[in-house]
Amino acid sequence: MCGIIGIASNKSVSSNIIQSLKKLEYRGYDSAGIATIKDGFIDEKKCTGRVDSLEKILFKNPSAGFLGIGHVRWATHGVPSQVNAHPHSSEEVSVVHNGIIENSSELKKDLEKKGYKFKSQTDTEVITFLLTDLLKNFDLIKAVNKTLEKLNGSFALGIIFKKYKDIVVGARRGSPLAVGYGPDENYLGSDSYALKSMTNKITYLDDGDVCLLTQNKIEFYNSNNKKVNKEILTLSNDKNTADKGTYKDFMSKEINEQSQTAKNCINEYIDHLRKDINLYNFPIKPQEIKKIILIGCGTAYHSCLTAKYWFEEFSNIPVETDVASEFRYRKIKFSNKNLYIFVSQSGETADTFAALDMCKKNNVKTCSIVNTVESSIARLSDFVLPIHAGPEIGVASTKAFTGQLLVLFILAIKISQIRKEINENTYIKKIDKLKKLPDLIKKTLKCQDEVQIIAKDFLSTKGAIFLGRGLSFPIALEGALKLKELSYLHAEGYPAGEMKHGPLALIEEGLPVVILAPNDRYFEKTISNMQEVIARGGKVILISNKNNNIISENIRFTLEVPQTDDYLMPFLMTIPLQLLAYYVASLKNHDVDKPRNLAKSVTVE
Ligand code: AGP
Ligand code: GLU
Repeated sequence: MCGIIGIASNKSVSSNIIQSLKKLEYRGYDSAGIATIKDGFIDEKKCTGRVDSLEKILFKNPSAGFLGIGHVRWATHGVPSQVNAHPHSSEEVSVVHNGIIENSSELKKDLEKKGYKFKSQTDTEVITFLLTDLLKNFDLIKAVNKTLEKLNGSFALGIIFKKYKDIVVGARRGSPLAVGYGPDENYLGSDSYALKSMTNKITYLDDGDVCLLTQNKIEFYNSNNKKVNKEILTLSNDKNTADKGTYKDFMSKEINEQSQTAKNCINEYIDHLRKDINLYNFPIKPQEIKKIILIGCGTAYHSCLTAKYWFEEFSNIPVETDVASEFRYRKIKFSNKNLYIFVSQSGETADTFAALDMCKKNNVKTCSIVNTVESSIARLSDFVLPIHAGPEIGVASTKAFTGQLLVLFILAIKISQIRKEINENTYIKKIDKLKKLPDLIKKTLKCQDEVQIIAKDFLSTKGAIFLGRGLSFPIALEGALKLKELSYLHAEGYPAGEMKHGPLALIEEGLPVVILAPNDRYFEKTISNMQEVIARGGKVILISNKNNNIISENIRFTLEVPQTDDYLMPFLMTIPLQLLAYYVASLKNHDVDKPRNLAKSVTVE
C-alpha cells in the first residue's frame, strides 16, 4: 500500500508533489510527508493524518527545491505517527517506501552495531542507513543495487541524495512503480493515475529495475548495474472519469454511475450486429478446459464465488474458487488443462499477483479480469479481460464489482456456447437479457430514499447479518463486507441454510438481518429461514423481486428490486447493499471514500 511520488524539475516541485499525493491518498492515508533538496540539504517535513495537514504545514513553512519525493503511508511496521511517517532521512539520503522489508530486524541490529541511530519503528529506516553506509564506498547505482540485494520482501522506493542533488532514484520489487516523462521535468509515481495530470507518457518498472531521473532524462538499470531500455506507453486521456463531478464523494459517484459503466462494458464485449461475444486469442481452447480456478481477494473474491454458480449452471466445467492469500501458499496440483482466472480491480494486489506469478512459473494458462489494464497483474497474465469501469477511487469497491461480474458472466456464457453446453437460442437470449441490464440497474438505483430509511436502523445496532442462498449467498458476503468496511459494524454474510448450524445463536431482539430472496428456485427455502430469524426477534430487511407481497407483519422493511432472469439477479441485489453501507457510513459521519485502516491498493501481503 501507500503512495510514492518523486519529481525532478527546473522549477519548485512541492506544490505538484502535494497535488499528486492527494491523488495517491486512496492508497494510504494515516500520515504524509515530503522531502526536497533545499540549498544543498535534505529538507524533510511530515505529519500524521491526511495530505491536507501536510499542505497546511508547507503553507506556513514552504519546502523549496527543484527536486523532491513524497509519501502517503499505510502503516505496516510502527503506529501511524509523525516519526514513523515517511520520508526517512539521514544526512545523506531521504527514502520513501511502499511495501515491507521482511529482514529489517536483522539489518537494524547490524546497522546499530555500526553506530546508526534509528528514530522510527518502521522497517523502512534500514534502507536509509544501508544506503548511507554503502554510498561511502560505491557510486550511486552500485550503492543502490547493493542495498537492494540485502533487502528481503517487497518494495517500491523513491530516493533523493544530498550529494547527487539533481537525481531522484526509483526501484521496485513486488510493489508497483511507474515513471512519467514531462516537459522539462520527470516523475516517479506509484500509479499512472497520480501522474496523469502531469503527463500521459509513462513507463512501468519491472521487478528488479532501478531508474534514475533528472529534470531532462530518465535511465533504467538492471540489478547488474547495466543500462536497459524500456518502452514508453502513451495513456488514454480519461481524466474526466477520475473526477467527482457533482457528487459529494467518489463512492456515491461510483455507485450511481454503474448503469453507464455496465453499458460501456457490455458494449466492449457484445457484438450487437452478430448478437455474439467478442473473445479473440483466448489462451486455451474452451473445449479443452478441464477445470476453472477463480482467484481474488475481498470483493474480487466475491465476484469469483458468484461466477462459480454461473459456470456450474451453464457449463460442465468443474470450478474452484480461492482467496489469493491462501492459494499462493497451498500445495497446488497445477495442470495445463486448467484455466486460472485472476480477478482484481487494481491489478496490483500483492497476494493476487503472487498467486498469478506462481501459475506462470508452473506454465499454466492464465487470464486476468482487471480494471487497470496497465497493471502488474494484467501485464503478467496470458490474456486480459478489462472491465472498462473507469478509475475507481473509493476504497470500497462498487462499480468494479459489477464490472467483474459482467465480464465473468460474459465469459461463462461464451465458453459454454463454444463447448455447446448451452444451445444457440439460449445463448442469444442471455445476450439479449444482458443488454437490458444497464436499464434495470438504473431502475434499481432509484431505491435510495428507501435505503436511507433502512440505514437509520443500523445506527443503534452492534452488528448485522446478511443471508442468501445460491447466487445470493456471495452477494450476502459482499453486502456484509461493504457494511463492515464502511460503517465499522460487525457484519456477517451466511448461506441462509447455514444459520441453524450455529449463527442463529447471534439473533436477538432488534438485530438487523438482511435477507436476499429473489424469486428463484431457493425462494421458499430462504423465506423459511427468514421466518426462523423473525421468530427469534431479528429485525428483517427483505430484498426481493417477488412483488406479490411476501406476507409477514414482522418484516421491518421490504425492498423491491426489478424483475430479470434469476441468473442476473446478483447485479440488482448488490445495488441496495452498496447503498446501505454508504448511507449508514454517511449517517455516522465516516469518510466513505477512505474508511479507517484500509487502502485501495493492497500491495503488501
Ligand atoms: C473492497 O471493497 C475492498 N476494499 C477490498 O476487499 C478489495 O476488493 C480487495 O482488496 C481486492 O482488491 P483488487 O480488486 O484491487 O485486487
Ligand atoms: N512498511 C513501511 C511502513 O510501515 C511502508 C508502509 C507503506 O507501504 O505505506 O512504514
